[in-house]
Amino acid sequence: MMLAQNHDVDIEGACEASLACCTCHVYVEDPYFERLDEADMKEEDLLDMAPFLAENSRLSCQIV
Ligand code: FES
Repeated sequence: MMLAQNHDVDIEGACEASLACCTCHVYVEDPYFERLDEADMKEEDLLDMAPFLAENSRLSCQIV
């Protein structure tokens, strides 16, 4: 998320990566999605509330 924000991508990140919002929701395309660590339970719980959830949805603040 911070990398995207530093490159002028419009991602809000309202809770500043404290896993309290879904405003950093992104879609990660292949082959990059498969390279990520799996989302943990807290991220999965928040993703369940994200609008337009897809199989390649992630919270960008949790991608390191
Ligand atoms: Fe709120 Fe990512 S910025 S969960």
